[in-house]
Amino acid sequence: MKPSSPAPDVAIIGTGYVGLTTAACFAHLGRDVIAVDIDTAKIASLNRGRVPILEAGLTALVHDGLATRRLRFTDSYADITDAPVVMLCLPTPHDPDGGLDLRFIEQAAATLQRLLAAQAIVVTKSTVPVGTQAELAGWLARPDVDVVSNPEFLREGTAVADFLNPDRIVIGAGSRRAARTVADLYAGIDAPVHTTDPTSAELIKYAANTFLATKLSFVNEMSRLCDRLGGDITAVTAGLGSDHRIGDAFLQPGPGWGGSCFPKDTRGLAHLARSACEDLPVVEAAHASNERHLDHIVSTITRLCPEPLADARLAVWGATFKAGTDDTRDSPALGIVDRLQRGGATVTVHDPGAKPGTVPASTADDPYTACVDADMLVVLTEWADFAVVDLDKVADLLASPIIYDTRSIVDRRQAAEAGLHLHWPGRPPLVP
Ligand code: UGA
Repeated sequence: MKPSSPAPDVAIIGTGYVGLTTAACFAHLGRDVIAVDIDTAKIASLNRGRVPILEAGLTALVHDGLATRRLRFTDSYADITDAPVVMLCLPTPHDPDGGLDLRFIEQAAATLQRLLAAQAIVVTKSTVPVGTQAELAGWLARPDVDVVSNPEFLREGTAVADFLNPDRIVIGAGSRRAARTVADLYAGIDAPVHTTDPTSAELIKYAANTFLATKLSFVNEMSRLCDRLGGDITAVTAGLGSDHRIGDAFLQPGPGWGGSCFPKDTRGLAHLARSACEDLPVVEAAHASNERHLDHIVSTITRLCPEPLADARLAVWGATFKAGTDDTRDSPALGIVDRLQRGGATVTVHDPGAKPGTVPASTADDPYTACVDADMLVVLTEWADFAVVDLDKVADLLASPIIYDTRSIVDRRQAAEAGLHLHWPGRPPLVP
């Protein structure tokens, strides 16, 4: 870092998908941003413009930020001493009972304690247990420093678009000065700003993720009921979603919900409630229902497969928890693959985006190779590539012409023309 570098408007600690997106988007909005990570190799690579995650539009923003020098990367905390606002975008891994490990935040606070500028503002963006703001203030032990909660609502794969066009910005602050300073960083974004106390801000984040996960568990339950009763979930969700009190977003049934946030946050909220001696049966049930849904998908595969599961050869398309990301953490696809393998099936997985080495099964480089001699094809992630495959070729390669498409992504007309039997969760099958 050259000594002549201007004081940044904001320093971002951590360059994971939240930190890097936040840093690049603030630079895009015209703020001077410095991003810190203790991973020296990653920082060197970012300074060369190499973005290590798959996130639409992010590489272009990082390149722009580096070119305009609005975005700088460093591996030294000493470079951020003049930042008026410091945002913590650090990992908060969970333990098996849902509690979060705040070690990285505590370590950062210990470092920041002696480095922060007078009157600096420290913001948590990572999802942290309710009450962390108070704990962080204690770790910082800097009465002149304000601590603020400004949770992120970024979806992986669309994080840049979500940052720049949010439904709302939530700022939980103990002082008006701190709230205004953080709100000013978002100047240029057209969205309502909800200013509240830190505890409520922390709760908003958990409530949003848990509510969405609960909505999906409900929809998946309705799809199971359609399987049982013969209804069509697409008609049910169309009718359900047109009630404006319910809304039509997040009503797509699938193999179950997953990713690095929903499972962790639903468990985290339940854990938090238990430690406060409060019972949250709806939240607990959302999680249990999702596990049951994975079992239901596996039972359906077992029913549809012409061979007993123990002898079956299965082609699987999709390993990431959703399309547009390389992330397989807590992916329902991997939960299902694991269950199938434990049942004795031989599984070959193709995923166009998953990080190498993250799929614990045989993998194929293209969708067709996965299908060679398979007893059926199971689609578990909604990659757009799967909508445009040559289904005649797929029909020729499969040992039996059966597809179970848990994401409704495969082209219905082409499947029929290719003589394939197409099955979906909660919908009557298409059998030519
Ligand atoms: C989620 C939230 O949507 C973000 O607002 C939040 O900021 C983020 O967690 C976080 O806490 O950091 P993300 O984990 O990227 O974002 O994933 P979503 O797009 O919300 O999808 C979650 C799961 O629900 C995926 O497995 C997806 O396939 C599934 N899903 C989503 C469905 O099965 N059906 C739908 O209609 C929508």
